[in-house]
Amino acid sequence: MTGNSTARFHRAAAVNDLVDDIPLALAIEGWPVLICRSGNEIRAVINRCTHAIAELASGRVRRGHVICPLHGARFELASGKCIGGPYLPLQVFETRIAADWVEVALPDGKP
Ligand code: FES
Repeated sequence: MTGNSTARFHRAAAVNDLVDDIPLALAIEGWPVLICRSGNEIRAVINRCTHAIAELASGRVRRGHVICPLHGARFELASGKCIGGPYLPLQVFETRIAADWVEVALPDGKP
């Protein structure tokens, strides 16, 4: 999270419903969110590529990265950074586990 924006956690998915390296796309409070699990590591990023706003949900998730299905840009899930490409980073959302649910911190206001 950057700047002065505030964020609130929202319940997103049951931890046990997340499958390793199979991304889950959700709309929460109008935000397109992609949740990715790899073992105990759960990340959430915006479900829109920064190149041409393709949905990332059908992209491959491997070793902490998601690959855009449209033109192949690779983004690091932890930082959102585009690896080996010129594109802006993905927006990354903080996650936490609460009572076996994944909660995602989303900025107040509209996307
Ligand atoms: S839209 Fe994702 S790499 Fe072009």
